[in-house]
Amino acid sequence: MARIFSGIQPTGIAHLGNYLGAIRNWVALQEGNESIYCLVDLHAITVWQEPAALRAQTRTNAALLIACGIDPERSILFHQSAVHAHARLAWIFNCVARFGWLNRMTQFKDKAGKDREAVSTGLFVYPNLMAADILAYHATEVPVGEDQSQHLELANDIAQKFNHDYGVEFFPAIHPRIIGGTARIMSLRDGTKKMSKSEVSDQSRINLTDDDDTIAQKIRRAKTDPADLPDHPERLEGRPEARNLVGIFAALADISPAEVLRAHGGQGFGPFKERLTELVVAKLTPIRTETLRLAAAPDHIDAVLQKGAARAAAIANPIVAEAERLVGL
Ligand code: ADP
Ligand code: NA
Repeated sequence: MARIFSGIQPTGIAHLGNYLGAIRNWVALQEGNESIYCLVDLHAITVWQEPAALRAQTRTNAALLIACGIDPERSILFHQSAVHAHARLAWIFNCVARFGWLNRMTQFKDKAGKDREAVSTGLFVYPNLMAADILAYHATEVPVGEDQSQHLELANDIAQKFNHDYGVEFFPAIHPRIIGGTARIMSLRDGTKKMSKSEVSDQSRINLTDDDDTIAQKIRRAKTDPADLPDHPERLEGRPEARNLVGIFAALADISPAEVLRAHGGQGFGPFKERLTELVVAKLTPIRTETLRLAAAPDHIDAVLQKGAARAAAIANPIVAEAERLVGL
């Protein structure tokens, strides 16, 4: 039985990319594993968050995860700030990781943009906190989207350097579990950027709580090219928007892109978008309904998260205490 750790930022509302790239796999991985899923609010504040909104979104996203099928009895579900072991180990890792390693992180370059002088130092050391999230549990399996693979390599580098510097075999190697075809869902506005809630100016993403009309409107407005759908995936080459819509359809219908194109190749995007809308609505309606039901009882969600935090702390505290001892603290 492997111990799994993964997290999601409680900024905004989880979207279709989070669902297909992460949450859906988290649900499946509850079977036969010890699964630990975290709302990473400490990561969220690396960029400005309105305090009341952050607190509310932490609850809403917890409700969403439960609505998607994360069972807080089978999994440990909690918010990061409630377990201080994350921040304690992250500080040690700030002192293990090298400046040059972090300087090579492409996600930092993307998120910092041109104005590097103005971003928080937390955004720069974000991957060290992510390494701490995982290694505080000695978790070895990390189901994430493909956007996180560079961060996981860094986490392994940190674990190795810690073990080397302190002459121990304390932190285990981490195995990324990046799930093939749906590992990266792209923005509906720009097929070359990933769908992300961190991209505040891009409102094209489909949130898991969007109502049917909003979903239909976002899909109708999704950028496409003038050609019809091809009949074979090879002919999606150089057509990132078409590839993305076909990929979303395939993932939601649990079929291959080739099968999608066998059924819909030769169609224009108009009719295809209508079919896609029906599919997205069918998948998201039960999730939205259940999220709204759960979110109406915020005290219950808080109690679930507190209970999860106590279970998480029981695992992480002794591990981080031992790391501190090894360091000489
Ligand atoms: P965001 O980038 O939207 O803020 P998070 O950083 O909270 O999302 O990521 C939560 C999980 O969702 C991670 O495992 C990440 O790899 C996955 N994920 C995020 N965006 C996408 C996407 N567009 N396609 C596939 N997976 C994604
Ligand atoms: Na991300």
